[in-house]
Amino acid sequence: MYTKKEHVGYITLNRPKVLNALNHTALTELRSAFEDASLDVDIRGVILTGAGDKAFIAGADITELGRINAIDGEQFTRAGQAVLNVIENLGKPVIAAVSGYALGAGCETAMACTIRLATDDAKFGQPEVKLGIIPGYGGTQRLPRLVGRGRALQLILSGAMISAQEAYRIGLVNEIVPRSELMTRAEAILAQITANAPLAIKFSLEAVNKGLETSQAEGLFIESSLFAICAASDDKKEGTAAFVERRAPQFKGR
Ligand code: COA
Repeated sequence: MYTKKEHVGYITLNRPKVLNALNHTALTELRSAFEDASLDVDIRGVILTGAGDKAFIAGADITELGRINAIDGEQFTRAGQAVLNVIENLGKPVIAAVSGYALGAGCETAMACTIRLATDDAKFGQPEVKLGIIPGYGGTQRLPRLVGRGRALQLILSGAMISAQEAYRIGLVNEIVPRSELMTRAEAILAQITANAPLAIKFSLEAVNKGLETSQAEGLFIESSLFAICAASDDKKEGTAAFVERRAPQFKGR
């Protein structure tokens, strides 16, 4: 489910009866909502959440998983990874507003988002090994990058579920917020980010994301190249002029 309000896209996984388990249809809908948000110049950021009060996403749909073989398995993971890559590289901030379970593909989807907020009763985990599989939507790659190899391996190998507090302690979650404030806090963080120059936001995201996939020397080269594009932008002229003139900048994303 996708709605738009005041430059924010609200994307909601809407299968509450099965704790928002991600099946093929839900994954396809998720992809098209994010592609829409990516192309929509009016949308400056996205909040991703799950319908109902029990789950963000309780994983890939296990009934579908039960039916796949090796060939389907490769396609299944590639399709999920591709959607999460779209989320991670949207060029706009995406906030995962997590209440309840974020397990398996749910935890992986949250990790593809720019920032993760969790209610104090949220639960995270990669329980795939309990089903005879491994994380397939990027969990083996994003989790160690986010929390370090030792903690990631403990979570992936044990399949254990952890509390929001533990997720916060290890850096999987940016903030814990009361349930009643989850959406307003997500909106406030987005407002803080989107008040800044849009190209600078897009290129900061790109420099961090691309830089983490390469050597530091390559990453520094990417940083310099993207810095140079920003230096030539109208928004850089406006941002620096507004500072000197002691006024608020009017950014145009050009
Ligand atoms: N895929 C498909 N259906 C799922 C699901 C998933 N990942 N997670 C939950 N559901 C369904 C349940 O089958 C149940 O359906 P039913 O009412 O038709 O029986 C419904 O959602 C509610 O789940 P239930 O297990 O009854 O809730 P609970 O509060 O007792 O337990 C969980 C919640 C999250 C601990 C439990 O549902 C669970 O372990 N889910 C699977 C998590 C997982 O392994 N995810 C990774 C998949 S790769």
